[in-house]
Amino acid sequence: MKSAELTHHFKHLFGSQPRVFSAPGRVNLLGEHTDYNDGFVMPCAIGFSTRVAISPRPDRKLVIRSEEFSEQLEFDLENLPSRGKGVWSDYVLGIAVMLGEIGHPTPGASLLVRGEVPIGAGLSSSAAIEVASALARAENVFIGARVGIMDQFVSCLGKAGHALLLDCRSLEFKLIPIPENVRLVICNTMVKHDHASGAYNRRREECDEGVKILTRWYPKARALRDISLAQLEQHTAELPPTVYKRCLHVVTENQRVLEGAKHLTEGDVCKFGTLMRESHTSLRDLFEVSCRELDIMVEIAESVEGYCGGRMTGGGFGGCTVNLVKTADASRFAAQISERYQAATGIKPDIYVCSAANGASADLNGQA
Ligand code: GLA
Repeated sequence: MKSAELTHHFKHLFGSQPRVFSAPGRVNLLGEHTDYNDGFVMPCAIGFSTRVAISPRPDRKLVIRSEEFSEQLEFDLENLPSRGKGVWSDYVLGIAVMLGEIGHPTPGASLLVRGEVPIGAGLSSSAAIEVASALARAENVFIGARVGIMDQFVSCLGKAGHALLLDCRSLEFKLIPIPENVRLVICNTMVKHDHASGAYNRRREECDEGVKILTRWYPKARALRDISLAQLEQHTAELPPTVYKRCLHVVTENQRVLEGAKHLTEGDVCKFGTLMRESHTSLRDLFEVSCRELDIMVEIAESVEGYCGGRMTGGGFGGCTVNLVKTADASRFAAQISERYQAATGIKPDIYVCSAANGASADLNGQA
């Protein structure tokens, strides 16, 4: 239905019949800040998608519009900019530029974007628009990203009702069913702290520094993925205190993902929920990527009926928490969290009661 509306709008704007491609946002259940350490993550795709309608043009132009922003952007395919300008259309343009760079120049095209994934909430609206554009430009060729493999990967390969356990080194993955008796309740704190991207990069550097020091004793280690807890504990004194804390988070978080995968496979949502709580504490105290609003959101959930466990999700410094909640209690949970968070912070949160959704797809004839 949504694609049919988009098709209609597209025809009105460009006068031609488009094909529609869609890609979802994601929420990560367990395994935060482990993907760039060659570790394990367990995200799932969610039911908010970005759709891209596309049709070829006879000229060498790329014309991009979005239903959310009023401007129309036009680019000459013979002369594409080499850097983005920090605007939404960069994600669409970037795909054309990258395809050109790897030897697949793209033909002229008109594109219309419709985004449902909340922007800046840590639910990967950027991966969704990139993946939908990549599908639109390259059909089923998967364009791997060097950083943030988790978001694009699950946006492509997520499956309804399942979490995706991904080994970020080998890219082997396994789909694990999420029991029917729980829902994923995503609570948006509505805050995004400005220093997020600088702090993200600093965390990555601190992890790399940890690996560099630890290779003195473990020369084969390539990433924190290769370090066990016992090995790390033997060299606590040799690591700067902050670097040690970052490493301790990543090493234990990898263990939590592998243990969590077993619990979820067995349908034990309580044990899985306990690991989510531990993950939050670790992200707050060791990796230091939480913030007051995320901590409040997590704390108030503890006393609400039906709660199995939860934590901040995504890069941190704002954005959302993800909560496992008994299906029967999910809507009451949402209402109570909303009330309590607003009372504590003065901010009205957005709350989404979700189930895991399918990854990206081409909508048949734009009619789906
Ligand atoms: C962001 C990045 C991901 C991942 C998370 C933290 O969402 O895009 O690749 O590193 O932060 O787990």
